[in-house]
Amino acid sequence: MTEKEFIPTSYTAMENEGVVTYSSPSNIALIKYWGKLEHQIPANPSISFTLNECSTTTSVQYKKLETPGKEFSFELLFEGRSKEDFKPKINTFLQRVEKYLPFLKDYHFVINTSNTFPHSSGIASSASGMSALALCFMEIERSFLKEMPPEYFNKKVSFLSRLGSGSACRSNQGPIMQWGESTAIEDSSNLYGVVYPYLIHENFKNYQDTILLVDKGEKQVSSTVGHELMHDHPYAKSRFEQAHSNLKRLKDIFASGDLDAFITIVESEALTLHAMMMTSNPYFILMKPNTLEIINRIWKFRSQSKTHVCFTLDAGANVHVLYPENEKETVFTFIKEGLAPFCQSGQYICDQVGQGAKKL
Ligand code: DP6
Repeated sequence: MTEKEFIPTSYTAMENEGVVTYSSPSNIALIKYWGKLEHQIPANPSISFTLNECSTTTSVQYKKLETPGKEFSFELLFEGRSKEDFKPKINTFLQRVEKYLPFLKDYHFVINTSNTFPHSSGIASSASGMSALALCFMEIERSFLKEMPPEYFNKKVSFLSRLGSGSACRSNQGPIMQWGESTAIEDSSNLYGVVYPYLIHENFKNYQDTILLVDKGEKQVSSTVGHELMHDHPYAKSRFEQAHSNLKRLKDIFASGDLDAFITIVESEALTLHAMMMTSNPYFILMKPNTLEIINRIWKFRSQSKTHVCFTLDAGANVHVLYPENEKETVFTFIKEGLAPFCQSGQYICDQVGQGAKKL
């Protein structure tokens, strides 16, 4: 599909007021998106597990204005309280999507949002947040039309989410979503994420993700700045090629269930992401001493226990510990006893692969 196909021609009936609510999960990338072109077009394809527990719930109340506004008219509440500092980000999002949702200036919106994970836990809320918001606006648009095929709805939700935050386009469906053109995935697109369409071995069913909160502080360098630094990066070209080839390899691994090969790709992707940060100009480090301590402990435990526990990292110090469901008991005991002491206030979040957003 092209961008133009996401511009509606006309609405059949525009309701005066209403309210919609969605809950959308976060996701954890196995092959990382790091580097982008204009209009949130990724420099390389990425793929992620959709999570189940870490999510954002957003409700949007809408009321038709007597005359359409020149600016967007909205209030923003976070956990029921007005949150002025979130407004600029939402305003930018509305500007980016207005062309595709031409009703936005006809209404006043009250956006009320909350996360299941602790605020300022260092967990990216932009993926689940932008996805939940895009879902609400799409539900409103759907009510203005006689019908909308579910496939179109899902693609446009992902398309709009991407304009809010790239990784958000991989959150609305599950269990695995892929984003970015790749010869390995038929119908893959730079404009939106798609549900991974090929065989997934049982080994990956209900895959576990325990998120270790190593550092809950504000990141020193935002993802947006990090993406920027991939322009003129000395290793950018080979990094982007590597992501393409890792995606091809992962496709075979998803089919065969080869967990050792899975671990090699996932851990390499995480360390490559951080290597890109450490070799950009200016360079920076988001890992903390305890991030490295945890990684080393995971490696040691894996070799002793013969389990398939591994790690991945986002653009931050927290560690996502990934492991198959049938090793849950052994690995979780290790996490509680061997890794939790290296988390800030001993905190971690238990999650697993999920199926995507829910309408409430
Ligand atoms: C490291 O999606 O947060 O999590 O598009 O600028 O909002 P923006 O960036 P964002 O980048 C996240 C990158 C990552 C890897 C990934 O999720 O693929």
